[in-house]
Amino acid sequence: MLVRDFIEDSLYNPSYGYFSKQATIFDWDERPVDFSVVRDSVEFDAVVTKRYAAYEAERQLWHTPTELFKPWYGEAIAQCLVSEYLLKYFPYEDFIIYEIGAGNGTLAMNILDFLHRHYPSVYDRTRYTIIEISENLVQKQRQKLRRSHPGVQVLWRLSITLHTMLFAMTLILSNRIKAM
Ligand SMILES: C[S@@+](CC[C@H](N)C(=O)[O-])C[C@H]1O[C@@H](n2cnc3c(N)ncnc32)[C@H](O)[C@@H]1O
Repeated sequence: MLVRDFIEDSLYNPSYGYFSKQATIFDWDERPVDFSVVRDSVEFDAVVTKRYAAYEAERQLWHTPTELFKPWYGEAIAQCLVSEYLLKYFPYEDFIIYEIGAGNGTLAMNILDFLHRHYPSVYDRTRYTIIEISENLVQKQRQKLRRSHPGVQVLWRLSITLHTMLFAMTLILSNRIKAM
């Protein structure tokens, strides 16, 4: 078996693949860390370690900058995206964002909350679509976003290539995924 086939199978096999079945992403409570009182990276590590303790039973846990630095990480990305959009496309085009692999749905939540709060006219023109391979995470994303941002579309296991080819003028956010 080739290494690439082994990796593909381990990550995406619909019955036991890591992303299809097991992925759990660190999700600390909705209250962001108050970075103004965190003195340095050592203190920050201590805060993270403490919150990790709640996940003792999880062997496959991992974290993302979105979760560690929420909502600031998502808000910084939102600010970059919206600046570009206002400069080049508003009001002629809708603001179309695709997030490929959305984990707990936190990045989408933070970006959309930020737009809603600071750029309501852009929020009204925003179409946010998530493409996700993990069925468990699809449920989590839908549940998280349903109330605050009911317009978000969460699609399960669509071919990225097909979808991205259909929408050329689109912002695509993704990390640690493999195009299928
Ligand atoms: C590192 S997490 C990123 C989560 C989120 N973007 C964040 O910043 O917190 C990777 C995500 O991509 C998803 N994923 C991995 N491979 C994928 C694929 N081929 N198509 C769609 N989603 C995929 C995983 O299930 C997971 O939700």
